[in-house]
Amino acid sequence: MDSLIKNVISRLTQEAQKERMREVDVPPEDRMLAITQDTGEFFNIILKAIKAKNILEIGLSTGYSTLWFCDAIKENSGKIITIEKNQNKILRAKKNFQEAGVENFIDIRHGIALDILNGLLSENKQFDFVFLDADKENTMNYFEIALKMTRIGGIIAIDNMTYPEKYRSEMSAISDRIQQIPNVQSSTVKIGNGEEIILKLAD
Ligand SMILES: C[S@@+](CC[C@H](N)C(=O)[O-])C[C@H]1O[C@@H](n2cnc3c(N)ncnc32)[C@H](O)[C@@H]1O
Repeated sequence: MDSLIKNVISRLTQEAQKERMREVDVPPEDRMLAITQDTGEFFNIILKAIKAKNILEIGLSTGYSTLWFCDAIKENSGKIITIEKNQNKILRAKKNFQEAGVENFIDIRHGIALDILNGLLSENKQFDFVFLDADKENTMNYFEIALKMTRIGGIIAIDNMTYPEKYRSEMSAISDRIQQIPNVQSSTVKIGNGEEIILKLAD
């Protein structure tokens, strides 16, 4: 791994862990709500294996997952588009990206995810990997758009498939929907908060 990225990831892993264990009192709007470290490792390996170059992330927060992705695409001169509505979190993410020396690889789009996604769709953007990790009520909508924007052989990943419990109904509706689609292969991986890994086999 890139040593600068690794250092920032290490610091953020500790911050995220303290937040998760409630060792620090963070107001809800400032919480990182980051993926777990093993989830980051897992995605990093997948992205290197598929030689991903173009990534779309819905739900940047302070950039923890983005840094794991960035390490994987950096050597391919790849690019990440990542969406976030919270300006304060964007500022924190930018600082993290500067410290890791990767700001040129990451295109942050500030705004409401559905609006930004519809714009990207109209530009016919195609991605190797799309990560859905924003408001869970809209994940189904994000998934339908992501499916159109993922290349054949590309992957869509969805966080929080198994945890927390409060998202169970949204996530089970997504599982049901995925079962109906003939041109994908999918598996729920028991890592972190449960990751749905959806491989697009054909248009
Ligand atoms: C779970 S956090 C993302 C964590 C991040 N992927 C990581 O692992 O470090 C979800 C983020 O999505 C943002 N978000 C929620 N709903 C959104 C929306 N409709 N449009 C844009 N961003 C949204 C929240 O502000 C929050 O920062």
